Amino acid sequence: MPTIRIDQTDVVVDPGTTVLEAARSVGIEIPTLCYLKGYDPSASCQVCLVRDVATGRMVPSCATTATDGLQIESESDEVHAARRTALELLLSEHVGDCLAPCHFACPAHMDIPLMLRQIGDQEWSAAIETIKNDIAFPAILGRICTKPCEKGCRRNAADDPVAVCQLKQVVADKDLATGDGYQPEPRIASGKRVAIIGAGLTGLSAAYYLTRLGHRCQVWEKASQPGGRLHALGADALPPAVLASEIQRVRQVGFELTCDRTVQSADEFTTLLDDFDAVLVAWGEGQMQAAQRLGLKTNRKGIQVDRATYATDIDQVFAAGNAVRGNALFVRSTADGKEAAVCIDQYLTLGKMTGITRSFSSRMGKVAPQELGQFVQDAGHAPLATEQLVVDESTGGVDSVTAAKQSGRCLACGCVAHGNCRLEHWASKYNADPGRFGSRQATYEVVGRGGDVLFEPGKCIKCELCIQIASKSKSDLGLSFVGRGFDVRVGVPFDRSWEDAVRSVAQKCVDACPTGAIYFRWRDVDVVDLGESKTESQ
Ligand code: SF4
Ligand code: SF4
Ligand code: SF4
Ligand code: FES
Repeated sequence: MPTIRIDQTDVVVDPGTTVLEAARSVGIEIPTLCYLKGYDPSASCQVCLVRDVATGRMVPSCATTATDGLQIESESDEVHAARRTALELLLSEHVGDCLAPCHFACPAHMDIPLMLRQIGDQEWSAAIETIKNDIAFPAILGRICTKPCEKGCRRNAADDPVAVCQLKQVVADKDLATGDGYQPEPRIASGKRVAIIGAGLTGLSAAYYLTRLGHRCQVWEKASQPGGRLHALGADALPPAVLASEIQRVRQVGFELTCDRTVQSADEFTTLLDDFDAVLVAWGEGQMQAAQRLGLKTNRKGIQVDRATYATDIDQVFAAGNAVRGNALFVRSTADGKEAAVCIDQYLTLGKMTGITRSFSSRMGKVAPQELGQFVQDAGHAPLATEQLVVDESTGGVDSVTAAKQSGRCLACGCVAHGNCRLEHWASKYNADPGRFGSRQATYEVVGRGGDVLFEPGKCIKCELCIQIASKSKSDLGLSFVGRGFDVRVGVPFDRSWEDAVRSVAQKCVDACPTGAIYFRWRDVDVVDLGESKTESQ
């Protein structure tokens, strides 16, 4: 029986075994995209590269036989760099957004498309849960946020952005109007205690998420009531009843709040550090002297922190919001509270901060008018001007049907395969840079509209798996590569439909596809009436 060595491990294999199979048999993980057990390897993706020590050459492990005496290097920087390059080359031709543009535009990175789908389905309790996973104060922000998410919304270029901010408010208002409303189940108690100085958006958000994460929080507020700079906005911008009831709802998660109390001196601060496992400074802008009195370093804007972890240079002390940034957007202050909570949780549970994980995403960037037209075609309910979703404080908001219609304007820009895509998974794991080899040249396109099986050529890595699967089906027409050179793509013979090509094996093809290139139609298009949209006038 052949014996090979992979890194430091000797592996005895059956004759004909590939290096990939040998590695997997001893738990060595090698990424793959175009490989699928039971099918001929096309060896086209090259992400499974390993190094043949004898020749020094990189070889695809899925298509290399494990011959006796072979020595393979898998877990080295050089091999990892080669795999990363293979991923980056695939991504350089890729046309798709793993995550929608609004995800990046929203400082809190709320899952906006999911919230919009839930509103469309009138799933109000699911929608408030989605919102509260990232934003503790949606009713307040719905009224005062400057809406960076809507500025980044792709629909903006077609007619009006989806009224994300107001829809969030509609959901939050509905939740506030119900007695108990949404309350998350906190994680099991950690026994750790966190002191938070300042009960504005940042401090209260941090207390909310830290409590959800199982830590006991004590918030101190210098003023006689919580809310910080929100009280200066005036009743027209932010009705006091909304402010009071949303703070009350947030407090129901179960943290202590003491007003008319702050930390003045270095001695008091030292006692605090003895009594609590972590401290978050979350007061308002411009309190440099107070910070310096406590021994905290400051810069031009506020307290100096590591921007990735919110840690100050004093162990166990963190700072966030306007205490650090000077004068940030309200939504930024809210997001800071959540992110600081995540970092403090890492500190309390792991003993070190790994910081906030930024999600990997292939990104299409600016889309051309004809590409935008393809997105709008799929959305339905077009166009409905944002102003049609006026939230009337006196009547208590908009009706559910109007809200659902507005949410249906979402172009669902994120990829259907997000979270279930092998290219995304490995690109994230190998820290691949989608922009390393320049911006995309190919055009966004969806083939098979009107049918149940859709194909996006820009997401296809030409692995052949669907072609091989379809070729084994007796009853279907099958698939093949069509075109030449760079223009080669998977196609259906005789210009027939994708249903004709893969009808009996469609599910198998969708499951086997290593990306989101083939998928089932997931929503019915409702009213498609582009009217006088910018798409047509461009
Ligand atoms: S196919 Fe994968 S990598 Fe491409 S956009 Fe979709 S999730 Fe991202
Ligand atoms: S159309 Fe929908 S998914 Fe796309 S950016 Fe706007 S809100 Fe986000
Ligand atoms: S569409 Fe077919 S060839 Fe393209 S990536 Fe998916 S399975 Fe591979
Ligand atoms: S070349 Fe081996 S998995 Fe693609």
